[in-house]
Amino acid sequence: MDSPAFAGMTGCSGPAFFVPDRLPCAAPHGTFAFMATIAVYSLKGGVGKTTLAANLAWCAAAKSARRTLLWDLDPQAAASWMLGREGKWEGARGAFSRDVEARELIGPTGIERLDLLPADASLRELDHLLREMDKKKRLSKLIAGLGDYDRVILDCPPGLTETAKQVARAADLIVIPVVPSPLAQRAYEETERHLGGRTPTLPVHAMVDRRRRMHREAVEARPDWPAIPMASVVEASAAMHRAAGDAAPRSPAAAAFLDIWQRIERRLAS
Ligand SMILES: Nc1ncnc2c1ncn2[C@@H]1O[C@H](COP(=O)(O)OP(=O)(O)OP(=O)(O)O)[C@@H](O)[C@H]1O
Ligand SMILES: [Mg+2]
Repeated sequence: MDSPAFAGMTGCSGPAFFVPDRLPCAAPHGTFAFMATIAVYSLKGGVGKTTLAANLAWCAAAKSARRTLLWDLDPQAAASWMLGREGKWEGARGAFSRDVEARELIGPTGIERLDLLPADASLRELDHLLREMDKKKRLSKLIAGLGDYDRVILDCPPGLTETAKQVARAADLIVIPVVPSPLAQRAYEETERHLGGRTPTLPVHAMVDRRRRMHREAVEARPDWPAIPMASVVEASAAMHRAAGDAAPRSPAAAAFLDIWQRIERRLAS
């Protein structure tokens, strides 16, 4: 929040609508906007969660001019690395135990309007801590105390974990990447079952390789799901610590991330 990127920014930049169970924050011109939390989650590992979370966060900040926080909840800290800022001390777990203020861990990313709450290895013990504390809404309450962000994007670790339960309670929408393969499809169904229909979800086909028949058939079977192509530009952008929309704005992958972000905005507004 002390980011130089925010110098001169006032309030939120969202549409004027009222949804009572969301957190209001100040907006310019006497309008109201609401903080919305979007989680990128699947019980399956390696399906493109972090890549999607980081690219959606970039779209929120750069394309929708939303004051955005990307919160990296995964001890692998891949989202933190992608945005060029890994946690430097064992503080990430401390936000949950209230040894440290979550706000104090937030830092700028160098991208205007986009802040990061980085992960570190201490999050390996997060599930254990959350179970021990027995505070079912700890993550929701921490998000509520973060300040006036328009959008909070959560990059979640894989697995049917206590963290996942907290994420399901905290999120307004859960985006679930699904690689077009039978195992990933099964994992998607398990993920939905685990979430129990309590939180709205947006399944997304990820890493789609249209040269493969199985991928084509899976995508054709779900024409309503957005699809992200398998593209080297996605990995190349990540290696440069940049979003695809920033490093390769005319690429189909950048267009796919933006399409998903715009769908999310429409869902939040409806
Ligand atoms: N659309 C894409 N095209 C090409 N490569 C991709 C794409 N999406 C993700 N990848 C690559 O696939 C690998 C896994 O992606 P990512 O780390 O985002 O998955 P994840 O679900 O977050 O993994 P984990 O469960 O370990 O956290 C990475 O090397 C990433 O660069
Ligand atoms: Mg990840």
